[in-house]
Amino acid sequence: MPVQTVRTTAEMQQRSEALRMSGKRIALVPTMGFLHEGHLSLMREAKARADVVVVSIFVNPTQFGPKEDLSRYPRDLEGDLSKCESVGVDVVFAPADPKEMYPDGYQTWVEVTDVSKGLCGEKRPGHFRGVATVVAKLFNIVRPYLALFGEKDYQQLQVIKALARDLNFGIEIVGMPTVRDPDGLAMSSRNAYLSPSERERALALSRGLRTAHHLARNGVREVRELVQAVRKELEAAQVREDYVEVVDAETLRSLTTIEPGRPARVLVAGFLGTTRLIDNLAL
Ligand code: PAF
Repeated sequence: MPVQTVRTTAEMQQRSEALRMSGKRIALVPTMGFLHEGHLSLMREAKARADVVVVSIFVNPTQFGPKEDLSRYPRDLEGDLSKCESVGVDVVFAPADPKEMYPDGYQTWVEVTDVSKGLCGEKRPGHFRGVATVVAKLFNIVRPYLALFGEKDYQQLQVIKALARDLNFGIEIVGMPTVRDPDGLAMSSRNAYLSPSERERALALSRGLRTAHHLARNGVREVRELVQAVRKELEAAQVREDYVEVVDAETLRSLTTIEPGRPARVLVAGFLGTTRLIDNLAL
């Protein structure tokens, strides 16, 4: 079956309502498009777990800061539709205009407090407010019973888990492992910005995380030492650090030592030229 494209919020709401009335369970994969294998892995999992898979494609303006890459964010709706079709997605909700989501007079915002602090929340003020707001809107428009997100955006995943829980959406939030290129680079739509030499240098992020993981596995408990190992890789590749941190995997609070039985995560953000990339790994 060819994928169906829905361009208005009103039509998407009507369709979701009809699907629910006929007893169909919807899985939602929210995206900003320019789809890659990471997104497709979410869609395949969604397909295995639900009757109907809805993918949203919307470059959400409210999660970009004034100096960020909203205007140049890569877009390819035609290509995205054929990728969705290739994995059996049923409906693509691609609002025709940002005003579909934020009509004139729009004034309601969703804020998740604790887990939005620090890391990307500190470096990108307002980012998670924009994410939480658009995801809450998508949940209400599509009314899924399950929604899937990649662990590459680890802080985002924790924000959305808190959002779904605290606002009683009754939606299961599924986090899926980061998909990587064979050389270790985490897949991201923003990788499209990288020149060949920047792409080579960008490998320092995943290499640094793997080194930290290896050290932790071999008994290093001091966070300072783990962070230093990641920094060394970034510096050697001339990647400008935005942050390197080791945090509690659930609360995202900074740790000074890692302890057995307390899941920890190492997260990194860095710039290659004007391109900002993030990555993370369980320790
Ligand atoms: O991860 C993304 O692509 C976006 O932040 C999301 C969740 C689709 C919200 O715009």
